[in-house]
Order: sequence, then structure tokens, then C-alpha cells
Amino acid sequence: MNDWTAGYIADIGYTFGYYRELNPLWTKLAFLYNGFMPPEITSACELGFGQGMSINFHAAASTCSWHGTDFNPAHACYGQNLASIGGSGAKLYDEAFIEFCTRQDLPEFDYIGLHGIWSWISLSNRAVIVDFIRRKLRVGGVVYISYNTLPGWSGFAPMRHLMAEHAKIIGVEGHGIVSRVNGALDFTEKLLLTHPAYAKANPYIADRLKAVKQQNRQYLAHEYFNRDWLPMHFATMADSLEPAKLTYVCSANYHENINPLNLTHDQQTFLSDISDPMFRESVRDFIVNQQFRRDFWVKGGLKLSNLEKTEALQSVQVILITHRKNIDYKIKSPMGEFTLSEEIYNPIIDILADHEPKTLAQLEQALAQTDLVFGQLVEAVMILMGAGHLAVLQDPAAIQSVKANVDRLNAYIINKTRGSNDITFLASPVTGGGIFVTLNQQLFLLALKQGCTTPTAVAQFVWQILAAQGRKLISDDKTLETAADNLAELNLQATVFIENQLPILKALHIF
Ligand SMILES: C[S@@+](CC[C@H](N)C(=O)[O-])C[C@H]1O[C@@H](n2cnc3c(N)ncnc32)[C@H](O)[C@@H]1O
Repeated sequence: MNDWTAGYIADIGYTFGYYRELNPLWTKLAFLYNGFMPPEITSACELGFGQGMSINFHAAASTCSWHGTDFNPAHACYGQNLASIGGSGAKLYDEAFIEFCTRQDLPEFDYIGLHGIWSWISLSNRAVIVDFIRRKLRVGGVVYISYNTLPGWSGFAPMRHLMAEHAKIIGVEGHGIVSRVNGALDFTEKLLLTHPAYAKANPYIADRLKAVKQQNRQYLAHEYFNRDWLPMHFATMADSLEPAKLTYVCSANYHENINPLNLTHDQQTFLSDISDPMFRESVRDFIVNQQFRRDFWVKGGLKLSNLEKTEALQSVQVILITHRKNIDYKIKSPMGEFTLSEEIYNPIIDILADHEPKTLAQLEQALAQTDLVFGQLVEAVMILMGAGHLAVLQDPAAIQSVKANVDRLNAYIINKTRGSNDITFLASPVTGGGIFVTLNQQLFLLALKQGCTTPTAVAQFVWQILAAQGRKLISDDKTLETAADNLAELNLQATVFIENQLPILKALHIF
């Protein structure tokens, strides 16, 4: 039999995740913050797009043209369907990397993205991808790549190996991947009850396994049960990408760019004494025990002078996409918890709270009476972006021209949400990407579109949809059993939604 999967899990579909790092616009602040000119991106490619949420949102909500592949036909079919509904013209294939990357009809790309791919494919597939980047990424173009990293995985890697071996040797093929995943998890639990020396040497393993057990089985199958699985040191990654002539730019995780969020004073001093930036990055991974990297690399890349950097940053437009009541000033970091200073953040959020776009120059001007200097403002913007509270806007002409595509795609998703729990994102013409919108909130939008005008009418409308399918709400971990309780909860949620969330979705041109 011809095994097209090359050892990759294909008997269960992947999750319906959306990844903002794959939005070409996500390069903008990251590049500027690190003194690089953000590239003009008009032609992009995603390798291994899964269910195709990210590629479809980016294709529908921006003027960039997209190509992509995922060899799982169920994924490609789902993705192609979304592409035709949105009318984005995205070209999505069901080809293996080796086939897709050697197609003769592909353009040069300004951007190539791969999320959750590199660590889970064979050495030969990694070589195919590097060669593809070498041939097809234009000079100045960007690669976004995420991967499992060492030393963060060094303790748990043997456990993942054991689980994959259990699934292969003991798991019964005919019972499906979910039963093999569950079987492997149960086995590791029993193993730990014997107090193995491995668990004594790695005391956090039991907690880690407990957390793994809670995770979505689709995700677990793809994360842990592939034939290939290779976490890598940063330096090994740099060596792997060397033939494609890539240079490291920065982490695409905005928070990782901000040293005080991640490193103690001593750690910052220790790192600043290391002159080689690549070695510094390797050492930093030890300090934070890095487990997963999301990085930007560039072919060539233009460095900016401090003046150019400041001017370019001043012209960036941002919009607040979280209601201020929902902004948590406590941020998780490798050091534990980091509390944002109210003195710095309150005035910034005050100015942005109307959810109108503002350039950083406008923010700087509006903050002129405070002690805040431009560098602090930029750092705060990076932190708010990383926390998902701010977004960068694409240019007004693009916002206009993609609106019809986005409306079609969002209408389709919302309609689907009436009967499924899969998709918790909608596309925004303003940000050129996806925005988290819960299932109930999508149904509230549908109710408003259908003419409901009050929270009570919205709640009634949504309850009719849910009740017809026997679906019930959960509040405080309890299922609400009666219609009255469900209606009361929906009423409450709809009231908050209309007051807090709807103005933001309007500002994002989603409603
Ligand atoms: C972990 S999933 C990540 C999907 C998507 N990037 C995301 O993050 O949601 C990896 C994806 O790569 C695809 N894939 C794995 N090996 C491949 C290959 N050799 N050629 C094409 N697609 C492949 C799988 O079908 C799967 O959808």
C-alpha cells in the first residue's frame, strides 16, 4: 500500500485553531521593534495549513495572495471549501511537501509560514522545505517558523517517546487513534504509580502528565503520536536554515522581545555580556527553559537607523480590541507573574478605550503631559499586542477591498456555529486576520443580523437554536438544566456582549 502519510497522523483531523503569528501584518511591529524594515508582503505561502483557518482568514481579509498545502485530503477539502466561500482566490492543495514544493507554477513568495510542522516531519521533509525556501523566498522575504525546542523538552521527551511506542506496539490499530492515545496515557499513569527513578529525577512529570490528560485528543494525536518528533536547539535550527540564507530576526512571540517580562536583572546582565547574538539566544533558551519557539527569519533584510525606526514606529496604527474591563494587568511570564504598572498603562488605555485607530505618534502626543517616554510607549504597545489586547491595522484601501470576502466567510462560519463547536474565530478586514469570538457571541451576532434589538430578543433567538439540538449552557461548571436558567444566562451574556463586545466588533468591521 502506498503510505502517503510518511508516518504522520492522518486518521484524525487537526483542531480548528487560528494563529495570529501567520498574519503577515504580525511582522510589522516585531520587525520595527528589532530595528528591521518590515517587508512588503503581497505573496505568501503556508506549509501544512491544517484545517486552513489561518490561511483562509489571511487570504480573505488581506489583499495578499496565498498558496498553501496540507497533504491530508480532509484538511485540504475543508480549507478549499472556505477559500471558495470567501472568494479569496487562495490556492490550496492536498499535496505532500515534496510534491508542492517542486511545482513549476508557484510564484516567488515574500512570506513563507509554517506553524506546528517542523518538529513533526522527517529529516528529508525538512530538507525539502529548506530547499523550497532557498528557491522560492524572494530576497528580503520572511519565514515564520515554530518548533519544539530544547532544553524545554529534554525532561518530557522520553515520556513522549514511551507514549508513542505504547501506541505503536500495544495500542490496537483497529480501535482508532483516540483509543491508542488514551491507552498510552493510562499506561504512563500506571508506570508513575511504580515510582520509577525517571520520575524522581524529573519531579514535574506527574503534573505535566495530568495536564496532558486534560488536552484535546485531536491535538494530542498530532503533537505526540507521529513517527517523527524532534525538538531542536536554537543553534541547530539556525544551522538547518543556513542553506536557505536566512538570518534570525526575532521571536514572533511579542512578549519574548521584552526582557523585563522574562528575565531577572542578573539574567539580563549575564546575557548582555555575551557578544554573539546567536549564542545569546541559545543561552536565553536555557534561562527560560524554552519549550516552543515561534521565530521570524529573513533572507537579507534591511536594518533601520534609530531615526528611521522611530519614524516608522510612530506611523504604525493600532486599535484596542479588548474591552478595558477585561484587560488583566497580571501577565504570565517565565518568571511567574508580571504586573503591568497602572501609572503607565491606564493613560494609554484611556486614550485607546474608544476603539478608534490611533498611530503611535498620536498616542505619544496625547501622552505628552505624562512622564512616559516613546520607548516605554512602544514597549507597552508590544506587551498589549502580545496579550491580545491591541492589533495593528492594515491600510484603509485594503480594509475596503476585502470587506465583501470577509463578510461571506464570517456569515458561513456563524451559520455553521449554529450546529457545531468547531470555530471560535471570525475574520476582520481591519486586522487582516482572525479575532477570537466565542460560539455564543457568534450566535448573538446572528440574532442581531436577523433583526433582534434587545438582549431578551437575542437570548430568545439563540435559545431556540440551542434547545432544538438539546444543547445547554454551562455556568460555574454546572450544566443549566431548565429553559428559564438557560434564558437567564443567555440574557446576561447578551447584555454584556451588546454593551462591551459589539462596539469592538463594529470597530473591527466584523459587524
Ligand atoms: C500539527 S498540524 C498543524 C496544522 C496547522 N499549521 C496549525 O497549526 O493549525 C501539522 C499539519 O501538517 C500536515 N502535514 C504533515 N506532514 C506533511 C507533509 N509531508 N506534506 C504536507 N502536509 C503535511 C498535517 O496533515 C497537519 O495538518
